[in-house]
Amino acid sequence: MIYLDNSATTKPYKEVLETYVTVSEKYFGNPSSLHALGLDAEKVLTRSREVVAEILGVKAKEIIFTSGGTEGNNLAIKGIAHEHSTRGKHIITSVVEHASTYETFSELESKGFDVTYVPVNVLGKISVDDIKKAIRPDTVLVSLIHVNNETGTIQPVGEVGQMLKEYRKVFFHVDHVQGITKVPLTIKKHHIDLCTISGHKFHGVKGTGALYVREGINLSPMLHGGVQEAKLRAGTENVPGIAALAKALRMTIDKSINELANLRQLQQIAIDGLNEIEGIVLNSGVGEGHAPHIVNFSIPGAKPEVVIQALSHQGVYVSTKSACSSKISSPSRVILEMGLGNQRAESAIRISFSFETTDEEIKTFLKIMKEEVPKLLQVMR
Ligand SMILES: Cc1ncc(COP(=O)(O)O)c(C=O)c1O
Repeated sequence: MIYLDNSATTKPYKEVLETYVTVSEKYFGNPSSLHALGLDAEKVLTRSREVVAEILGVKAKEIIFTSGGTEGNNLAIKGIAHEHSTRGKHIITSVVEHASTYETFSELESKGFDVTYVPVNVLGKISVDDIKKAIRPDTVLVSLIHVNNETGTIQPVGEVGQMLKEYRKVFFHVDHVQGITKVPLTIKKHHIDLCTISGHKFHGVKGTGALYVREGINLSPMLHGGVQEAKLRAGTENVPGIAALAKALRMTIDKSINELANLRQLQQIAIDGLNEIEGIVLNSGVGEGHAPHIVNFSIPGAKPEVVIQALSHQGVYVSTKSACSSKISSPSRVILEMGLGNQRAESAIRISFSFETTDEEIKTFLKIMKEEVPKLLQVMR
């Protein structure tokens, strides 16, 4: 098996699953219970929060555990929009956001909010100046994806954060789901108020995530009930999943220290190899401004579902757009917004690596592509 769909999800580390099982067995008490079992579970929760906070360079009380990236993004965006709507109803974002924020903005628009979508250039990058120009007296939030899930383009969120220092009433949310462990981001230095991460993108288990909420920021909660997670997310906490997330984050960050350069090399091998295959056009870039774990390319004229099935038969797993939109056969919104045209947007394929991806796997993938692409092109003619 050659798994090249790590931006959709990663395989949980064995140690992470062991943590999940141990915590489920030994610390099954409800962390809100007052007896010893409850207190033991609460200790696991506290420790996990401290680990995540330390890695993100923030305070433990600024971490809210969620069910993943979608929930974190919804909570951050709707939470700010509803809580601060008396001050203003204008939000700024980009045209290349993940569905979990894009659809959230559509929903807010239907409720009377006004959203400005800044454009991107041919590399998929926004301009800080466009964000600045879009700010109005009634702007309450700027929300940006850090690393694009389809192309790996890195948005200049650090520069946006610095620029927003002048606008103290405008909150800044970053969707860091694809960036965490691959593209470093210093939350405090860059004046980020809210930041979303998701456990299953770094070898944790599915249904886990965290939202950083800067101390002092008020959000309107989406779930009402108990007082868990600083009253921002009612409901009994997923203690085993949270402990697994903390373990996975620790392990993946530790690996990243030595492995990031290797990941860049793998990406270069993949790009060089794909460039040599007739019929393939690269949609994503390489080097600075681009995450090391994502490569996007098109085989104009080929149906991506057919390419995916052909590769799947050979034990190679890749994807079209983001996992949550890949079952909808429409052109990639991100590739269209980059101005690369309908044909490329309709035939875009994404490969994505983890620190577990090897040199050999990339070489085998390229060998299979060299054999399969001419066959696919033949069928189309
Ligand atoms: C950039 C980005 N944001 C948010 C999400 C949603 O995360 P989750 O699958 O944990 O809901 C994803 C998932 O693909 C993503 O890539």
